[in-house]
Amino acid sequence: MTDLYRAAVEILQENDRGSYTIPTKGLYPFQWNWDSCLTALGQSHFDESRAWTEIETLFAHQWSDGMVPHIVFHTPDDGYFPGPDVWATGRPVPTSGITQPAVAGFAIRRLFDRATDRGQAATRARALLPKVTAWHRWFFQNRDPEGEGLVAILHPWESGRDNSVDWDDAFARVPTEGIAPYTRRDTQHAAPEHRPTKEHYDRYLWLVEHFRALNWDNTRLHAATPFQVVDPGFNAILIRSAADLADLAETLGELGLAAENRAYATRGTAALESLWSEDHGQYLCRDRVLGALIDSRSSGGLLAAFAPIPAARAARIAQTIEGHGTRFRVASQAPDDPRFQVQRYWRGPVWLVVNYMIADGLARSGLAGASAAITRSSLDLIRTSGFAEYYDPRSGEPLGGVRFTWTAAMVLEFLALADLCQSAPDERWES
Ligand code: DGY
Repeated sequence: MTDLYRAAVEILQENDRGSYTIPTKGLYPFQWNWDSCLTALGQSHFDESRAWTEIETLFAHQWSDGMVPHIVFHTPDDGYFPGPDVWATGRPVPTSGITQPAVAGFAIRRLFDRATDRGQAATRARALLPKVTAWHRWFFQNRDPEGEGLVAILHPWESGRDNSVDWDDAFARVPTEGIAPYTRRDTQHAAPEHRPTKEHYDRYLWLVEHFRALNWDNTRLHAATPFQVVDPGFNAILIRSAADLADLAETLGELGLAAENRAYATRGTAALESLWSEDHGQYLCRDRVLGALIDSRSSGGLLAAFAPIPAARAARIAQTIEGHGTRFRVASQAPDDPRFQVQRYWRGPVWLVVNYMIADGLARSGLAGASAAITRSSLDLIRTSGFAEYYDPRSGEPLGGVRFTWTAAMVLEFLALADLCQSAPDERWES
């Protein structure tokens, strides 16, 4: 067991609240949706049962319409804004009213595949299958009104890439006037210059208040918002989860659930092609209000490699990443984009969770060398800079929150991958 492994486990245990894990103390004191699902992967290396619990706890707070909220406010904590009183979703245990990338289907399949306790894995996966499927169905019922096979996010926080350049133009349509006065808490825990601007926060809050005024009725929100963006990364995660859930459901003999998820994955994979940019060598977001692609080369368009895209597309994405030329991969915005900011939240820095999903997708497309290069760069980054929330892709400087849960979880995943590569040395270590 290496020091890195031990340090990662220590962080996961320190942030464990029994049945869920907080992303980090202070900045994020509740349960976050995609954080938890990716955290479970890390936990599975040392406590399989606890890993299942992480995802089960999240789904215990699924809404009756199928949505799985992006935050579950298990216990009061004034250190975070916007808290339950702002969201006012009326849930017995308060939750936010928006969702986050649907990575649960991928995560539970991976937990199932690697489980040493096969009986437990089958029982717990079988119980989660209809719940995760209901979430996938919710997406296509509420976020894809024209049935194109791709879903829209209605708030930048849904993407998980909160502050990306991708949202700037569409976000400019969201008003800043008329919102209740508020005090940010995030800038008390992390450096303000690494966090979103006040103008962005005003717009985040406007959308929350707008949706709240519509009683969080998901059948009305899509039509009622000036911000509808089809994000290739977000859709790729949903497509991959649907494909993985279909495989898992087949293995468990749940053929109806398998067929439903397979249909989402097949249709979504075909529709993703409409977001491809040959000029940029990656996928782009589409502004659904304007019906036009958004000219922003972010990691969202690289994350599309997580879905079963054509091999030629994946190879081009690997080249695009190589072309970034940063010391550490993968920058969240192309470094030669004039809007790139090397230390500002999602406008340049590196996130290990994004690296992990891109590396996984590239490996599945047969690009073992490109995948291994991301694994190696990610572990080098942690050895250089510790377990931060995100990192400067040029210097490796740690940014945002500290002792970060999903970074620790991804380190355990990358260490396992690196072991795999070393035990079967081949072209996988070439970059
Ligand atoms: C935040 O508060 O910064 C979160 O990312 C929103 O989910």
